[in-house]
Amino acid sequence: MSNGYHTPVLLKETVETLSPNKGDKYLDLTAGYGGHAAEVIKTIGDESLATLVDRDAFAVEKLRLRFPKARVIQSDFAGALEMLKAEGVKFDLVLADLGVSSVQLDEASRGFGFQNNSDLDMRMDQSQDLTAKDVLNSYSESELIRVLKDYGDEPRSRRIAGLIKQSRPLNSTSELESLVKQVYTGYSKKNPATRTFQAVRIEVNDEIGQLKKALNLIFQLLEQDARLAIITFHSLEDGIVKRFYKDNSGKYDGLVKDLKVLKSSDTIDSIRNLRSRSAILRSLTYENKHN
Ligand SMILES: C[S@@+](CC[C@H](N)C(=O)[O-])C[C@H]1O[C@@H](n2cnc3c(N)ncnc32)[C@H](O)[C@@H]1O
Repeated sequence: MSNGYHTPVLLKETVETLSPNKGDKYLDLTAGYGGHAAEVIKTIGDESLATLVDRDAFAVEKLRLRFPKARVIQSDFAGALEMLKAEGVKFDLVLADLGVSSVQLDEASRGFGFQNNSDLDMRMDQSQDLTAKDVLNSYSESELIRVLKDYGDEPRSRRIAGLIKQSRPLNSTSELESLVKQVYTGYSKKNPATRTFQAVRIEVNDEIGQLKKALNLIFQLLEQDARLAIITFHSLEDGIVKRFYKDNSGKYDGLVKDLKVLKSSDTIDSIRNLRSRSAILRSLTYENKHN
């Protein structure tokens, strides 16, 4: 069982970047356990100015208990943004801290990690149909190679995909871990299965599709001089955010200002918090010409 604890990544830096003011309207697209949200809410001064989104039912339950006056939405963030856009609401501060929480990773039954043996699940939204087991047991070899290469930067994607196909049906996280270890004999500091687990998780949760959909909506929900901050954990995601910020300056009749990037490896946060080693925070201020 997980101890139910998540240390927010780049907390001080994220709050400084968002630079909340009293009365600002805050949208947290990946509220998780509310670590970032709690700090922002302290400054904006009124919990009911916060809209907190997560697609994990367990996280949502905790958020509702911790922030009873906030608006908590259980949804994937692309869907939540569509809904908020239809309502015509806008925000001064928007945060997305992508990926999984430590609580999800540490909870054995969720199947995100290989520390404990469990069913190959990996769904952030427990009501979704597609699981890691479906991906591993039904995708073609070429689809698996694509997933492992694109989402895991896995240099031995062909050999791993071939072994997955030969070893079907795969049922448990231990089976997947030991299969990858057959491809990587010898000592390595990092468990060689880390990349495969990350890749399958990203596929199961359509994390890249979600990010692209969200970016296409996000500027339409920003108030004049709103601050937007996105924390990513791998190069593919970071590249998408970086290009989007750059290419969209001027789109939707707005102007992107104060583009900033902060790598966790340059901060002491990466020493305190192992999960944050690869985190990159990209932020901007949005000047909406219509306002
Ligand atoms: C890294 S954690 C965020 C932790 C949070 N900032 C905190 O301080 O507690 C990411 C959270 O975002 C959620 N999440 C990831 N992708 C999502 C998506 N596309 N839509 C909604 N929630 C998502 C996960 O379920 C997880 O709870």
